[in-house]
Amino acid sequence: MAQYILALDQGTTSSRAIVFDQEGNIRASAQKEFRQIFPRPGWVEHDALEIWSTQSGVAQEAITRAGLRAGDIAAIGITNQRETVVLWDRRTGEPVHHAVVWQDRRTAAFCDTLKAQGHEPTFQQKTGLILDAYFSGTKVRWLLDNVEGARERAERGELAFGTVDSWLVYKLTGGELHITDATNASRTLLYNIHTGDWDDELLGLLGVPRALLPEVRSSSEVYGPTAEGLFGSRIPIAGIAGDQQAAAFGQACLERGMAKNTYGTGCFMLMNTADEAVPSHNKLLTTVAWQLPDAGGQGQRTYALEGSIFVAGAVVQWLRDGLGIIRSSGEVEALATSVPSSEGVFLVPAFVGLGAPYWDSYARGTLVGLTRGTKAAHIARAALEAIAYQSAELLTAMGQDSGAPLKELRVDGGASLNNLLMQFQADILGVPVVRPKVTETTALGAAYLAGLAVDYWQGTEEITRQWQMDRTFEPQMDPGEREHRMNRWRRAVERSRAWEE
Ligand code: G3P
Repeated sequence: MAQYILALDQGTTSSRAIVFDQEGNIRASAQKEFRQIFPRPGWVEHDALEIWSTQSGVAQEAITRAGLRAGDIAAIGITNQRETVVLWDRRTGEPVHHAVVWQDRRTAAFCDTLKAQGHEPTFQQKTGLILDAYFSGTKVRWLLDNVEGARERAERGELAFGTVDSWLVYKLTGGELHITDATNASRTLLYNIHTGDWDDELLGLLGVPRALLPEVRSSSEVYGPTAEGLFGSRIPIAGIAGDQQAAAFGQACLERGMAKNTYGTGCFMLMNTADEAVPSHNKLLTTVAWQLPDAGGQGQRTYALEGSIFVAGAVVQWLRDGLGIIRSSGEVEALATSVPSSEGVFLVPAFVGLGAPYWDSYARGTLVGLTRGTKAAHIARAALEAIAYQSAELLTAMGQDSGAPLKELRVDGGASLNNLLMQFQADILGVPVVRPKVTETTALGAAYLAGLAVDYWQGTEEITRQWQMDRTFEPQMDPGEREHRMNRWRRAVERSRAWEE
């Protein structure tokens, strides 16, 4: 039997591939950034062909770096930036337009119209989502309305829609498969999370023909092999999950009430709510955490409550590329630590509006509390603190919705390696923040999903056993101080709201 699992992690700013061994250790990895296209303020696009070329390139590179051949890979697991929409010609595989990225706000006005028509409760009840430009549904509609001939071609069944997972599977299998998994489907506004199927009423409201849609499968099963000639020998594709769900799986948040926060481009907190799709009263999302095949082969859905923040790690990129006050992202910790506090400076990074719990497409970034003494270091510190403040607001909402205050928060993603941020996060949350040894939990989760399907790992207990802690950050801040800072943060947020017309 082959001995390794290959995880493909197609993120917002880069495509990555990681080879894992049976203990869940990284054997080799490769990564490549690709172009971010900003055609207008608030619009974000990717070239889907570039997504594919970078992803297939790093997959091959990781296998080679591990000193392996395709035959040594037992299965491939795919995880991906969610909600981003690709529309392509089924026959030629040519995308009809750039991919419209989850951060893109172009459909905000259309979402307002749907809300004004009173449709939000229907969408919320069926999909667990909020009517926001973040999700795929309104982006698909935009493409059908704005790409010449697209609607007619869609109705004739000539086009295919997919989130990035579907697109990658289509390309990996040489056009054989047009599928997605339940986690990715649950981010589209088109999928009913209770029935587990695309929903005709929602398709009607958004004007999306069923003929466009992929088949929805579980997150862990053998879907099919990679195309002949792609990697030397054919490798089974056996796991698919959106990146945040995969991270929760990789963090072994397998029991009801366990939660993780991933610090990537954005920040996404998910709490496992087991087989119960808990509706939110605090503007969180109800989403599919994963769907595993059960004994009857039907597929058992586990649900999660999710808080989504659009800009987290991206604020550090902005310090680097926008302000130029650091040369590399790694420098931010040293700069922020060079001052003892942000001295009353608050940065609200609402660059693409605000996600949970505000859902304000028209909010924009704000910097308040500047004085003559403000230095770059204070702004850097305020930027890191903003990530923690936003996460704290999610945790509060989550406690209220789930009725159970969280005992600890598992963290992962690039910025979880920043000790200053993690300590401040624990301080401002008032609960311990726990970092695992492997912080590549997104890729690891996808590897686990694929490995389970091919019996490389025997069951979820093995995953729980493999999870290992690196460090716990205990809260040290006085509760009065915490309250004071959170109040000031909320005042800063108010100043950023409803800015863009
Ligand atoms: O919902 C968007 C999310 O999936 C993006 O994740 O890691 O690419 O920032 P990431």
